Amino acid sequence: MKLIILLAFCGATSATLFPSDQIAAIVNYHNSFRSQLAKGTYKAKDGTVFAAATNMQTMQWNTTLGTSASNYAAKCIFLTHSGTPGVGENLYVTSSSVVTGLGAAASKAWADEFYNYGPQGYTFSSKTGHATQMAWATTKTVGCGYALCKNGPSGFTSYTNVVCQYYRQGNYIGQKAYAQGTTCTKCPSGSPCQTSTAISGLCGTA
Ligand SMILES: *[C@@H]1O[C@H](CO)[C@@H](O)[C@H](O)[C@H]1NC(C)=O
Repeated sequence: MKLIILLAFCGATSATLFPSDQIAAIVNYHNSFRSQLAKGTYKAKDGTVFAAATNMQTMQWNTTLGTSASNYAAKCIFLTHSGTPGVGENLYVTSSSVVTGLGAAASKAWADEFYNYGPQGYTFSSKTGHATQMAWATTKTVGCGYALCKNGPSGFTSYTNVVCQYYRQGNYIGQKAYAQGTTCTKCPSGSPCQTSTAISGLCGTA
């Protein structure tokens, strides 16, 4: 008997998990951004100072999300959300295939929406929707993956696809990313205010 296996080729590749140094860089970038917001020290390009947060939680890596984000990234569906129920999701593509520093670069691109466009009411907006998910006070975990992809649109014949997923999900339409007021005054019980530099002003340990 002869078996013939057909594989559909659609630009997809195999899933790639971020190495531990990039996991640390992604978590650190998110927590540094969140800490600055929480303490009321984050400033937009035009000088606007963002309000401090009463309830911003420290973010941790979530390996379940890391796996699901990697698997989805490997499908190489250009800048299209997975629609995974119950999780938030940020997408990033670059025509570069350099993997070093990729997780931090994607995180910076998303956070810079607040730098470039200001708070935009602190609610989800098309200009700042990635930044609001990063800053969502009650989103405590993130997991990301990437893949090297082919056959994207013009300018992206080969590209690197980055997907980060978030739990709990943020970006509920019309809700603010965080409650404004004195830093750490509304930390959830069991998640006390942190003072170490990397996560100061955030609720809960890293
Ligand atoms: C990690 O994310 C999953 C959703 O994929 C969620 O069910 C789980 O509770 C999260 N883990 C933590 C520690 O929050």
